[in-house]
Amino acid sequence: MSINQSIKPYTLEEKEHLFLGGCDLVDLAKKYGTPLYVIDEATLRGICREYKKAFKDYKNIHMMYASKALCTSAITRILDEEGFGFDTVSAGEIYTVYKSGVDMSHVLFNGNNKSTSEINLAIDFKVGRFSVDNFYEAELLNKIASEKGVRVDILLRVTPGIECHTHDYIQTGQIDSKFGFDLSQVDDIVTLIKDNYKNLNLKGLHAHIGSQIFELKSYYDEVDILVKEIARINGKFGLNLDEMNIGGGLGVKYTDNDAPPSVNELAKAVTDAMEKYAVEIPTIYIEPGRSIVSTAGVTLYTVGSSKQVPNGRKYVAVDGGMADNPRPSMYQAEYFAEVANKVKSKDKESVTIAGRYCESGDILIENVELPIMKAGDVLCVYNTGAYNYSMASNYNRVEKPAMVLVNNSHSDIIVYRETLDNLISHDNIPDRLRKYD
Ligand code: LLP
Repeated sequence: MSINQSIKPYTLEEKEHLFLGGCDLVDLAKKYGTPLYVIDEATLRGICREYKKAFKDYKNIHMMYASKALCTSAITRILDEEGFGFDTVSAGEIYTVYKSGVDMSHVLFNGNNKSTSEINLAIDFKVGRFSVDNFYEAELLNKIASEKGVRVDILLRVTPGIECHTHDYIQTGQIDSKFGFDLSQVDDIVTLIKDNYKNLNLKGLHAHIGSQIFELKSYYDEVDILVKEIARINGKFGLNLDEMNIGGGLGVKYTDNDAPPSVNELAKAVTDAMEKYAVEIPTIYIEPGRSIVSTAGVTLYTVGSSKQVPNGRKYVAVDGGMADNPRPSMYQAEYFAEVANKVKSKDKESVTIAGRYCESGDILIENVELPIMKAGDVLCVYNTGAYNYSMASNYNRVEKPAMVLVNNSHSDIIVYRETLDNLISHDNIPDRLRKYD
């Protein structure tokens, strides 16, 4: 079984307690407190290698980890060691990657509204590629690059007009999207670059059709459209574009209802589409985020109060929720969980896992069959490596959880738990409101 087709990290052991990376998850909860994000290094590296292996016959492929899925200094170190470049979308992501020692020529800067200061920073840090999203950005980037006396390598982000079956909010390649140039606008932007924007060096096209994708045909169609479009541009403008970035999006298995394709199947869809045209696109970029890091992560929570609604359902509340994992309330995302200290228990009941935040919508998992829980039990929610910490907030003024990396029976903190002082560290009380000096 391919790693991204499994719900649980593949180094998971089920004894009396759950173990991950050789560490007892109940001990980790005690040692570091909860909620706690836990990342299994072996699973993460295994998935990176699975990607590399799947595309190994295609020599000029650049794997660019979409750091929006999970961006911390230790994670970027691991991805760098595994030979991945980085898709970044903000000064914060660029800075994290830079400070963790990444060769910045392996970094691509993406986004539909890059600010002047972000563009300045990206040029100063010498990021390898800009994915130019719109006319405004092309003009701005050219202006800043010319002021700095540099020429920057760019791809053009286009919307290939592919609708894939995923949640509306995470679909990006359809015609009416806030991202990228419509294909009908490509000639205008290429003409502007060729004739006016001398500080932009156009290398190819970029698209991203969506996230949590299960249909390989969407990738096949995407490659088809991009290959034809690049050939058309080269023919019409006498250019030699030779780069194609197909974005990310491969889905993962959050529950038994999900059946994502394997990385091998994705690689085959891409190479088949390339072979069909027998064209030379020497360089392909691929930007997986979720499928790299999701399965490697779990979140541990401590169970607190429970409530049986008379003639209704039973709620079991945990000490985290929508601020550390906003996905269920934002996208109706479904997760699978187990009780880390009751792995073998046969005494089960159907419960709804509620978060601790002051919103009725703060439900982590609806109607799940789990061992009967009481206060103090440790709940382990699977597949929380992607878009959990990276989308976490301080809603209700709650400190963000810590994150630990486990490997070979050893655990290391990679993100410290926020403190109450961290929470007020950016506050300021104007002099006229001060009570104490
Ligand atoms: N490349 C581009 C240009 C993207 O916009 C994205 C994700 C990726 C790559 C990585 O896609 P992935 O392989 O992770 O699916 N917050 C949402 C997901 C938003 C994805 C946005 N773009 C969620 O929690 O489901």
